[in-house]
Amino acid sequence: MYRTHTCGELRLADCGKSVTLAGWVQKVRSLGGMSFFDLRDRYGITQLVVDADAPAALREAAAQLGREFVVQVKGIVLERQSKNSKLPTGDIEIKVEALNVLNKAQTPPFTIEEVSDGGEDIRARYRYLDLRRPPLQRALALRHRLAQEVRSFLDEEGFMEIETPYLIKSTPEGARDFVVPSRMNPGCFYALPQSPQTFKQLLMVSGYDRYFQIVRCFRDEDLRADRQPEFTQIDCEMSFVEQEDVLDTFERMMRQMFKNALGVDIPAPLPRMSWYDAMDRYGSDKPDIRFGMELSDITALAHGHGFSVFDACPYVGAIAVPGCAGYTRKQTDELTEWVKRPQVGAGGLVWVKLLEDGSVKSSVDKFFAPEDLQTIARQCGASAGDLILVLCGDRRKTQTRLGVLRIEMGNRLGLRNPSVFAPLWIVDFPLLEWSEEDSRFYAMHHPFTAPKPEHEKWFYSDRKEDLERVCANAYDFVLNGTELGGGSIRIHNAQMQERMFEVLGISKEEADYKFGFIINAFKFGAPPHGGLAFGFDRVCALFGGQESIRDYIAFPKNNQGRDVMIDSPSKIDDAQMDELFLASTQQ
Ligand code: AMO
Repeated sequence: MYRTHTCGELRLADCGKSVTLAGWVQKVRSLGGMSFFDLRDRYGITQLVVDADAPAALREAAAQLGREFVVQVKGIVLERQSKNSKLPTGDIEIKVEALNVLNKAQTPPFTIEEVSDGGEDIRARYRYLDLRRPPLQRALALRHRLAQEVRSFLDEEGFMEIETPYLIKSTPEGARDFVVPSRMNPGCFYALPQSPQTFKQLLMVSGYDRYFQIVRCFRDEDLRADRQPEFTQIDCEMSFVEQEDVLDTFERMMRQMFKNALGVDIPAPLPRMSWYDAMDRYGSDKPDIRFGMELSDITALAHGHGFSVFDACPYVGAIAVPGCAGYTRKQTDELTEWVKRPQVGAGGLVWVKLLEDGSVKSSVDKFFAPEDLQTIARQCGASAGDLILVLCGDRRKTQTRLGVLRIEMGNRLGLRNPSVFAPLWIVDFPLLEWSEEDSRFYAMHHPFTAPKPEHEKWFYSDRKEDLERVCANAYDFVLNGTELGGGSIRIHNAQMQERMFEVLGISKEEADYKFGFIINAFKFGAPPHGGLAFGFDRVCALFGGQESIRDYIAFPKNNQGRDVMIDSPSKIDDAQMDELFLASTQQ
């Protein structure tokens, strides 16, 4: 037997036992002729001690040990003189009687402990060493736990786990595809799925009325803390359902995951908010409802005071930031610069301070009488001591900017506690989004999403205003300002699907070429169906209280989409290029 116990297992009650442990040497210390070692495995850390009066050979072997050596030790469990209350095994130590070095190790490039001294890049290059650290082990353990919860819940509910192909034809989720050249079909490419959307719908046509898959998806898009080029979805689809059935099922799934993995009870039923309300109140379709600071429309109060910047804008909106009326000139200037950054994109910032004595002071005192500013402050629900921040411009764009500013102020004021969970559903999305740039509509979710039945009349209208009014039977699951999942009731009728492509400006030929298979399938008895997909990496990160999904993925990519450990993507040789009928662009 390599080991009788793990390194996280032994307690006072085990004192006197003869045990064998195996693991990695984390730390080596010598004290008055005695040597101490921390032995680590994924279950914990146990202290080993080699006494000053141990046989010379053992002391010698112990003296040779270095960090990350893999060893097997036999010894007796003893009560420790100086206990360590921070370690579950901190009451005991092992008096080593035999030491077997299973493998030596080079000195690791960073410390492999709870908190490492290594920078991000070096840890990414030695990801397999970083993965030995407890925070990463906890992250992957949480991921495993949640995957088991998902599988057991969905299995209980009668869902079947069915795999779908990775080498497919482009799926329209709105990002760029990763493509794979086909050696056997010169000049042709597979696309990697951005999601299994069309396949899961085809499975509904095939009668597998409850499908799920914990599945990898691939999207060539700019990366952020919550985006990876390959990520995992909990992908689900159901037949003979309405929106209510889908929301009910997945609300129960999330409730079980919160309860079993975190011991947290989330509200039942979950709050729901229409997309329009979310935009008007929070300036975001993924609102963080853990704190207030809601947007106020002060357009009517802002117009007509001779301040041309406001007068020229169709929308003037504000947030009241609690307790920040004491901001200095330097601080308001900094905020002004902050909203002008390209990532936010505002032209400028107006501020109004509602001082503790009830008086007002603002950056537009020239144009607004104190009574007018007081009225604005009331409209914003501001209290004495609050700082009102005002942006103006196009309605939705300005609301979005205010939403970004609101999140920033929430972060600065410590209002976004990661151990508080405030999930909700966003519903009633617009079906279509008009792009001024391309002069065409895009599907807000994807082109398989059905319009709300009561809005179908507008869906078949040729007027842009009518089409803009159509709401989708779509929904997003939002947690703490992050979109965790989204889905919709689908179009299941070939004629409506064709109309959708027409509205999106996709010609019949193009629709046939790209989606002929699904339009055809719909002609052979497609049941009404709908579903959704959760971003599994995001679920894990948020459950773990983190914004970045990277540590919840064993081998993630960096911000440039590179895996610096295996050095990928990388060049391939000319012979391989030729075989794939690819022309070299190398000089
Ligand atoms: P959608 O595109 O909204 O829907 O994706 C579903 C969820 O996947 C997560 N997600 C990502 N996570 C990490 N990195 C990324 N690059 C990334 N992109 C998306 C998000 C998102 O909510 N087929 C539809 C679902 C459906 O209609 O059933 C789809 O893929 O958490």
